[in-house]
Amino acid sequence: MKRIFIEETVNKIGEKVKVSGWVNVRRDHGKIIFIDLRDRSGLLQVVFSGDIVKKADQLRSEWVVSIEGKIKERPENLKNSKIETGSIEMEAEELEILNEAKTSPFPPYGWSPEGGEIGENDKINEELRMEYRYLDLRSPRMQKNLAKRSEILRFLNDYLKDQKFIEIETPALTKGTPEGAREFVVPSRKHPGDFYVLPQSPQQFKQLLMVAGFERYFQIARCFRDEDSRGDRQPEFTQLDVEMSFVEENDVMKLIEKMMVDLVKNVFPEKNITDFPFPKLDYGETIKKYNTDKPDLRKDKNDPNELAFAWIVNMPLFEYSKTEKKLVSAHHPFTMPVETDLENPEKLKAEAYDLVLNGYEIGGGSIRIHQRELQNKIFEILGLKEAEIEARFGHMLKAFEYGAPPHGGIALGLDRLLMILMNETSIREVIAFPKTGDDRDLLMGAPSDISENQLKDIHIKCIK
Ligand code: AMO
Repeated sequence: MKRIFIEETVNKIGEKVKVSGWVNVRRDHGKIIFIDLRDRSGLLQVVFSGDIVKKADQLRSEWVVSIEGKIKERPENLKNSKIETGSIEMEAEELEILNEAKTSPFPPYGWSPEGGEIGENDKINEELRMEYRYLDLRSPRMQKNLAKRSEILRFLNDYLKDQKFIEIETPALTKGTPEGAREFVVPSRKHPGDFYVLPQSPQQFKQLLMVAGFERYFQIARCFRDEDSRGDRQPEFTQLDVEMSFVEENDVMKLIEKMMVDLVKNVFPEKNITDFPFPKLDYGETIKKYNTDKPDLRKDKNDPNELAFAWIVNMPLFEYSKTEKKLVSAHHPFTMPVETDLENPEKLKAEAYDLVLNGYEIGGGSIRIHQRELQNKIFEILGLKEAEIEARFGHMLKAFEYGAPPHGGIALGLDRLLMILMNETSIREVIAFPKTGDDRDLLMGAPSDISENQLKDIHIKCIK
């Protein structure tokens, strides 16, 4: 018999069906045993009576079973309006135990027959949740968050494809692209002493795709940054990365604005957007007024359904480095300056825009430089010597000489956006297998040492 999802059983009254899943709870009533069976789609009350009770008596929480039986309507006084399947139950005829389960290291999660959820992962030590992430992911909260994540990715994917964007994947083994963080490096076995760098963003590749004539690119891109983690930051995270040719700042902002509004309307209809069109705030004035470049503009900060988006514009092109007395790019060095006269670099403004939402920076982008000479000049202002410019960015300068169109784009921090939309306080709650605050993967045990042979292979000696 083919197994069906529990949510489908409501239409099967009077029929014999097969369901599979986990024992959520078992209730013993002497000659009768009840279990709530849980699968991805819901909970089903299963009744064991007669000969089968003996076998059902062995069942414990989280055991994996397949059960065949008849779906019956519950007597009126036993109907439970709090769950989808509350008006039916299954009368078990056959029980197959597929796997047993040890007692969970934290109280098992699940859906409650009272509606809502059993077990609150908020109250459980997060390191324990991470170590047993496969159990933690059984919680309705995490199941909901990841299902919603998938729904949002699908929406964004469809939306951009409808607007003639092409999804293109770019490499993870590459050369550094500056976004202001340290890079993760990967030693090359075939080229002793040389290293790949994991991309902080697909920035250079997406610009090269504009030179190639794709005009509208997007990617759900994994990015890697070796910086201190915190609630809204992970060493690897996901961007919705977008680039367009023949556009100005407003074209990019309008596209994203409309996409955000449509996303909220379609996937989070219960939420409302405070201000539309999104306000455009001057960077300098914002800092003066709010003392931050990502102000929380909600009218009611206790309203879980309020979304206050805003653009931050008129940002400086350069800022002074926090560690040395030199200029660094406020965004990245590919950003187009507003002024053509580069005499006073610290006064230059950028054709750039950040998107903020409820006090978080959820995206940033700019119009890019597409001429070799100007790009070279910017590298010089940043203090790069000619040989260094050639070694690090020669390929970009070269590409600009072969008919590079004017272009610009943006990247949204998807994890951050999701965290806010789902009213979570950490991006770890919207990522299936996140890292801890000190960048460890407690489930897999990474980072970890590797064998002497592997080290030799990649020409690396460890100094402990
Ligand atoms: P930027 O560096 O501003 O721009 O990154 C874009 C967005 O990505 C998110 N983000 C992060 N999310 C989680 N963990 C992190 N460590 C992390 N770092 C950044 C933020 C941020 O707004 N190439 C440019 C984009 C462009 O110019 O098109 C870039 O990467 O939400």
